[in-house]
Amino acid sequence: MKKQILFVDDEPLILQGLKRMLRGLRSEWDMTFVQSGAEALEKMVGAPFDVIVSDMRMPEMDGSQLLDTVKHRYPNMVRVVLSGHSEEEMIMKTVKSAHQFISKPCNAETLKSTISRMFALREVLTQEGLKRLVSRIESLPSLPSLYTQVVELIQSPNSSIKKIGEVISKDLAMTAKILQLVNSAFFGIPRQISNPAQAVGLLGLDTVKALVLTIGIFSKFEQKQLAHFGIETLWNHSIKTGAIAKKVADKESADKHLSDNAFMAGLLHDVGKLVLVANVPDKYEEVIETIKDQNITLNQAEQLVFGATHADVGAYLTGLWGLPDAIVEAVAFHHRPEICLSNDMIPLTFVHIADGLEHHGNGTLSMEAPILKIDYGYLQKLGWVEKIPEWLKTCAENKEEGKNDG
Ligand SMILES: [Fe+2]
Ligand SMILES: [Fe+2]
Repeated sequence: MKKQILFVDDEPLILQGLKRMLRGLRSEWDMTFVQSGAEALEKMVGAPFDVIVSDMRMPEMDGSQLLDTVKHRYPNMVRVVLSGHSEEEMIMKTVKSAHQFISKPCNAETLKSTISRMFALREVLTQEGLKRLVSRIESLPSLPSLYTQVVELIQSPNSSIKKIGEVISKDLAMTAKILQLVNSAFFGIPRQISNPAQAVGLLGLDTVKALVLTIGIFSKFEQKQLAHFGIETLWNHSIKTGAIAKKVADKESADKHLSDNAFMAGLLHDVGKLVLVANVPDKYEEVIETIKDQNITLNQAEQLVFGATHADVGAYLTGLWGLPDAIVEAVAFHHRPEICLSNDMIPLTFVHIADGLEHHGNGTLSMEAPILKIDYGYLQKLGWVEKIPEWLKTCAENKEEGKNDG
């Protein structure tokens, strides 16, 4: 069935431009174009839409008000903001009801791939196998309260690095873990960091925020008897994947927002594994047995045993926590990035690469050994295959720094 898409913009010229640009997609999308929020809401009464793409600045009802109303009345409709690039940061902070932001001017390809990716993600999140599995899981970890406090502080107009540092410092276990991490080789900081405020000052709010979340989630599982599942190994793998995703993103000149999202998604990409191992350990044992018995991949075995994978569960959870779509998407597709092929760099790209490099880094770090975990076809489509040696070098530098640090 064709997807129903509604475009809202008060400027007739922009709407005309969109119509012209998207003409080629008429076989896939049924598109409706309206000039105001009121008109959009009116259209929705009679006809269901899958997606709304709205401008931000409009007289009477602006994009933010419109999307809030849509969220309330039609919670399943995918909500996209199409607005000027310079406004992105402000919009991400103030418009809570948008799933995705696309900056103007954009081309048909970007619009098409963004919307298709959102559908792919929604398909994962609503699949029956995942729903059944999640309903069987007794305790899904909620957002750590310290993380919520930090996010609130970041959003409040009179917050400061000092205040955020103070809040984190009150949690001694968290502080110790953050300091241990930021002083490790992965962050490559030349001097010793001795308190959270300093960490925020040097690494940035978003990096520290991501660490608070990941440490908080992992610590919820510390008490459980899961030693033989190698929670420690999963922790190390997650931290390294986050750090490598950020390094590669920075190397490829990704902007700060993208690089921060890549870091957080890298840290959380296997969180579904943690949840499965903790809640259904017997079944996870069965997964491991199945891999050995049938010589299949982890994902195939999980699908057989659970009807969904750790990536699906991780996506469900990060979605539940309200993390940005780009992060949920990276978690959902980190083992099959080809589903979200996009001409633009997205967090998924870096998480997939970092996950592959990290798994590989556990063995010998050389080009001779094949990097089995990276999807070469995907990298080829991006034109990035030749970059692998450079990235491997970046990872090797990490390792060297690690040695110096002892
Ligand atoms: Fe994974
Ligand atoms: Fe992984």
